Amino acid sequence: MKIIVAGGTGFIGHHVCQHLIQNQHHITVVSRNSGQVRTHSSQDMTIVDWETLTKKTEQTTEGVDAFINLAGAPIADARWTSSRKQLLVDSRVETTRRLVEAIGRVSVKPRVLINASGIGFYGIDDGVTMSEASPRGEGFLAELCEKWEYEAHRAMELEVQVLCVRIGMVLGSDGGALSKMKTPFKLFAGGPVSPGTQKISWIHVHDLTRLMMWLLDTPNLSGPVNAVAPQCVSMNEFCKTLGHALHRPSWMPVPKFALNLLLGELSEMLTTGQHVVPHKIMQEGFHFMYPNLEQALQSLFGEKSS
Ligand SMILES: NC(=O)c1ccc[n+]([C@@H]2O[C@H](COP(=O)([O-])OP(=O)(O)OC[C@H]3O[C@@H](n4cnc5c(N)ncnc54)[C@H](OP(=O)(O)O)[C@@H]3O)[C@@H](O)[C@H]2O)c1
Repeated sequence: MKIIVAGGTGFIGHHVCQHLIQNQHHITVVSRNSGQVRTHSSQDMTIVDWETLTKKTEQTTEGVDAFINLAGAPIADARWTSSRKQLLVDSRVETTRRLVEAIGRVSVKPRVLINASGIGFYGIDDGVTMSEASPRGEGFLAELCEKWEYEAHRAMELEVQVLCVRIGMVLGSDGGALSKMKTPFKLFAGGPVSPGTQKISWIHVHDLTRLMMWLLDTPNLSGPVNAVAPQCVSMNEFCKTLGHALHRPSWMPVPKFALNLLLGELSEMLTTGQHVVPHKIMQEGFHFMYPNLEQALQSLFGEKSS
C-alpha cells in the first residue's frame, strides 16, 4: 500500500513507519522539518513538508491508499499556559484539517484515515470503566480530543473510512512517558505519583504499531477505537512492575502537591487515571502480543532486551 504518515518523525510515528516499511508498504512522511527526518533501515520512504502536501496534493497523494495522522505538539512537555493549550489544540486540529482538505482535493480518494486521539477523551477516573461507547469527559484534554476527532470525522463525508485511535500511555524504551519515568528509577529514586490508586491504561508500542497495520485491513470498524492493553493496572502496580524490570525499588512516592506546584493543571493527567478497555478491537479479534504489563516491561528493559 501507499500510505501518508503525518507526524511520522515522532516516537510512535517512527515505530509505525518502520513496521510499515518492513511489511513492504511505501511511506510518505509529512513533516514540518522534512530535512531532519530520522533515517529508516529501508529507503522506501519519501518525505514532504505540509506546504508540498497542500500545493501539490495530486502529485503527493497519487495512488495513496491510506492516511495516518500522528502529528501534534507534545502534551506533557510544558505547563499548560493558555498559549501552550492553544498550540496543543492547533497542532492537532489544524493538521487534521489540512489532511482532510488534501483528501477532499484528490480525485481518487484514499480508503482510510487513521487519526490519533487519546484516552484523555474520557476525562478523569471516577471509578468507571470506559469503552468507546462512554461519553466525553470533562477537562482540557477531553475537549481537545473531541475537536480533534471532529475534524477527522469530516473525511467520512468524502466516503473515507475514519478511525480515531484513542491511545493510552504508550510504552517504549525510546520515547513517551517511560523514557522520562525510567531515569529516577535508575537513580534509585523512582516511585508512584500519589495517590497511587489511579488507573493506568497503557499499550506496548509494538502492539500499537501492529494495531495500526491491522486497522488498515479492517473495514468493519469506524469511529473511535481504544488503543490500550486489556490489562489496566494501578499507578502503584505500574511502578512496582517497572522497578522490577529495571532491578530497582519503587519506593519514593511523588506527592500530588509537589507535582501541582511544578506542572500546574498538567499534573492532573498524572494524579488521576483512567480505566479504559479496548472493547471494539477485542470484539473484532485483534490479538495483543503484550497483554500483560510484566511481559511488556520485560521486553523493553529485561535482560534479553539489553
Ligand atoms: N505517546 C503517547 O503515550 C500518546 C498517548 C496518547 C496519544 N498520543 C498522540 O499520538 C500522537 C503521536 O504521539 P508521539 O508520542 O509519537 O508524539 P511525538 O513524538 O511528540 O511526535 C509527534 C509529531 O508531531 C509533529 N509535531 C510536533 N509539534 C507540532 C506542531 N506544533 N505542529 C504540527 N506538528 C507537530 C512532529 O513532527 P514533525 O516535527 O516532523 O513535524 C512530531 O514528530 C500525538 O498526537 C499524541 O498526542 C500519544
